[in-house]
Amino acid sequence: MAAARKTRVAVLISGRGSNMVALLEAAKDPAFPAEIVLVLSNRPEAAGLARAAAAGIPTQAIDHRAFADRAGFDAALDAALRAAEIDLVCLAGFMRILTTEFVASWAGRMLNIHPSLLPLFKGTHTHRQALDAGVRLHGCTVHFVVPELDAGPIVAQAAIPVRQDDDPDSLADRVIVQERRLYPAVLALVAGGRARLEGERVVIADAAPDGALFSV
Ligand code: GAR
Repeated sequence: MAAARKTRVAVLISGRGSNMVALLEAAKDPAFPAEIVLVLSNRPEAAGLARAAAAGIPTQAIDHRAFADRAGFDAALDAALRAAEIDLVCLAGFMRILTTEFVASWAGRMLNIHPSLLPLFKGTHTHRQALDAGVRLHGCTVHFVVPELDAGPIVAQAAIPVRQDDDPDSLADRVIVQERRLYPAVLALVAGGRARLEGERVVIADAAPDGALFSV
């Protein structure tokens, strides 16, 4: 019997790409339902591009500074993704705001990881925001991308306790560990057809009774 066709994934990065590496590692498992066929960055100097290339994954840089406006950059991005026959896009530390048109054309086929328990602490400096708010739990979220920044149906979250002596760096160090666990697990769910969009929410097949994937 022929193996089921794997979901073809592009990972979009702007920096070091440690979430991307976690996705690559997970995808090495023959049973993983997705294959990473392209790692693309808006920054040619992004360290993650070299890491992906060293792992034998095709890479591409589309420098946003070469475009007069967001629409031009997004059109080039869209063309690259379509040329590679991408089914699903994973934003992993991709620090560009995408146009409504681009997001609409990838609706239901684009995931993002964000370093907070959304809908709390959107935008940047999420660990500082969490400390300033005095929350006792912090973490990360993987969600489908919608035009509104850091919004969209949540697939899964992972939480960590906030300690009395935490600072933004110590929180970041513990949250990123959870990000690298969460994102591959979510990609497996989505690519395997076990997480599906129902309106504004995501329904997970065979979810644990408490609905949790990871928690402290
Ligand atoms: C991660 O913490 C990710 O959640 C965050 O950037 C970092 C990238 O790290 N993304 C955002 O803040 C998006 N708004 P990585 O390059 O090592 O994966």
